[in-house]
Amino acid sequence: MAGPTALVSALHEELAAVLGLMPDEQQQVFGGRSFWRGHLHGHDVVAVLSGIGKVAAATTATALIERFGVQRIVFTGVAGGLAPGVRVGDVVVARQFLQHDMDASPIFPRHEVPGYGRSTFDADTALTDELVRASEQVLRELPATLGLDVTKAFGLDAPRCHQGLLLSGDRFVSTTAESTTLRTVLPDALAVEMEGAAVAQVCHDYGVPLGVLRTISDRADDAAHVDFPHFLREVASRYSGAIVEALLRQK
Ligand code: ADE
Repeated sequence: MAGPTALVSALHEELAAVLGLMPDEQQQVFGGRSFWRGHLHGHDVVAVLSGIGKVAAATTATALIERFGVQRIVFTGVAGGLAPGVRVGDVVVARQFLQHDMDASPIFPRHEVPGYGRSTFDADTALTDELVRASEQVLRELPATLGLDVTKAFGLDAPRCHQGLLLSGDRFVSTTAESTTLRTVLPDALAVEMEGAAVAQVCHDYGVPLGVLRTISDRADDAAHVDFPHFLREVASRYSGAIVEALLRQK
């Protein structure tokens, strides 16, 4: 495989476990971001914090492709669950992405990205299949290793892996009214976050394979702001690390 694998998260807590698995990382600062070049299970990797939101994610993806020549991008982190069965502690692996705050109507249909004639972008099928296999393996094992207090506090009972539509927008969705609206307008959506669809648009432009995996930290409702920091601290980082490790062990 030519070029490194990019491992990206929006927040430090989400990337911490991945960095902890890299024995030889070298930091390079570029465009106001730290990129860590090194290895993980024999794979050439570059890990980076994108920062939060669509612009930060898009510029990071562009730098990874242009500056580091990455041959694929794997984005891990957390998301708010939208679909009824998508619970805190479950994992969502994206098959499609949509920017829920894209609205150039009435010039273009709502959610359509102007110039592209489409509102959704696809994840890479083969990479996403690998992410699903890695997630299912980790979900079978990890909740038991987190400790009873943590699993009880978050109700991490038989967590599931879902695959489908992931929404992104420059909003932390933290009211039941807003998540209800999103569910009504976009009934296929599994979860909502703030970066994936922006990276997907860049990867589409450059023809670079993308896989995105999100652990559900909250239900994007009135309690989201309470659940989110606690979950990030206690669970998210360990999930990201374990799933990326399982992914890179596959080959
Ligand atoms: N990431 C995690 N939870 C989220 C939420 N409720 N809205 C947007 N991004 C999120």
